Amino acid sequence: MGKIEGISIKNYGSLKNITLGKTRSHQANKPLSNMTTIIGPSGNGKSTIADVFGFIADCLDMDVEAACDANNRGGFEQIRSQGVEEPIMIELYYRESSNTRPITYELSIDLDKSGRPFVKEERLRQRVERRGGPKSFLHLQNGVGYAFEGSIGGQDDKTGTVDGTKVPVELSDNRKLGIVTLGAMKQYSRIERFLKFLQSWYLCYFTPDAARRIQTSAPQPYLDRIGSNLNNVAQYMYRENKAAFLKTLHDIQNKLPGIEKIEPLKMPNGQIVLQFWEKGFKEPFFSPKMSDGTLKLFAYYLLLHENNPRQLVFIEEPENGLYHHYLGDLAEEMKKNVGNGFSKQLFVTTHSPFFVNSLTSDEVWVLQKGKDGFSTAKRASEYEFVKELTSEGVFVGDLWYDKYFG
Ligand SMILES: Nc1ncnc2c1ncn2[C@@H]1O[C@H](COP(=O)(O)OP(=O)(O)OP(=O)(O)O)[C@@H](O)[C@H]1O
Ligand SMILES: [Mg+2]
Repeated sequence: MGKIEGISIKNYGSLKNITLGKTRSHQANKPLSNMTTIIGPSGNGKSTIADVFGFIADCLDMDVEAACDANNRGGFEQIRSQGVEEPIMIELYYRESSNTRPITYELSIDLDKSGRPFVKEERLRQRVERRGGPKSFLHLQNGVGYAFEGSIGGQDDKTGTVDGTKVPVELSDNRKLGIVTLGAMKQYSRIERFLKFLQSWYLCYFTPDAARRIQTSAPQPYLDRIGSNLNNVAQYMYRENKAAFLKTLHDIQNKLPGIEKIEPLKMPNGQIVLQFWEKGFKEPFFSPKMSDGTLKLFAYYLLLHENNPRQLVFIEEPENGLYHHYLGDLAEEMKKNVGNGFSKQLFVTTHSPFFVNSLTSDEVWVLQKGKDGFSTAKRASEYEFVKELTSEGVFVGDLWYDKYFG
């Protein structure tokens, strides 16, 4: 459980210095909503924000050097903002629940003398008492430093006072993240929970062709990035709780225009194939025969109904291939699904004013490019004209369409 209240990014592609929401260095800002939608013209850094989360996830899976090369990033020097000599720096401001104090995670990645990326600094801090200063409970520089066991305690950043069980740490590889090594050990329970939260990150870019592939029979708990394992997830949900899965299908069928019923068909090899009944036809169609838009919508709704949902989901351009009038409902469903609690958070990039019309100005971030070519980010609610016009009932998407945001 948990959510990100803010993120500051420095020197990552066009994101030379941006902050979304509340972070340790931007305490006056309002925390991010559970639904954060990023808009802006092409090339303004929307996908780069998604990639920052993807980069962190890759750093957890592999070492930072491999993460710099993975997913077409092209290596550290291609990622680092042009003309910059400083390290790439990411600050996450994360909160586990409404009654715990926020945790700051700071990560700084640089090149060593031989030009290889390494973890220059990694730090976790939490202000434990309401009035006291923040206490670091993990601090590593070039793989060397300390960590604190348990769920409380730390070293006071200002006074150096130690509270709790401080353990010296030296990593054998300075390209690996300390949170991965220490988060694997039960005694570092706070680090373990934070690591699990970060590992739940998932980027989704559904493509209907992929969803048409019927793969071999194998239940899988989660949809993959392109939605190619739709039927495997259906098989998993059917196996785990048939009644709940049938109810899910029932809920979804009411949201898909022109669809009257969706039912699973179990094949002799255990595979599940989904049958869709369309208005006007007596016989069902199997999922590979459904239209691109129907399959995509179905995949999004299934994503929102996953068992033990992933907490941190990033969706790129959900509007692609969808009829524009469906987008408002989809945005509403996404908002309803994430709610206000700490169980799920959704980031979306979009080019669709129809999608944005279902959002509040607090849920929308506008990316623009400054004169220097680097991105700037501003919450739609911070524009004076947005405050005025939305109070008169004007929608944010319509303002965007009318070029109010440039
Ligand atoms: N190392 C770098 N330094 C500075 N800018 C960079 C660097 N690498 C890439 N860029 C810029 O980042 C931009 C890529 O942005 P991104 O793909 O995030 O855009 P987007 O907002 O997702 O666009 P679209 O709407 O087309 O998907 C490019 O315009 C490129 O100029
Ligand atoms: Mg993009």
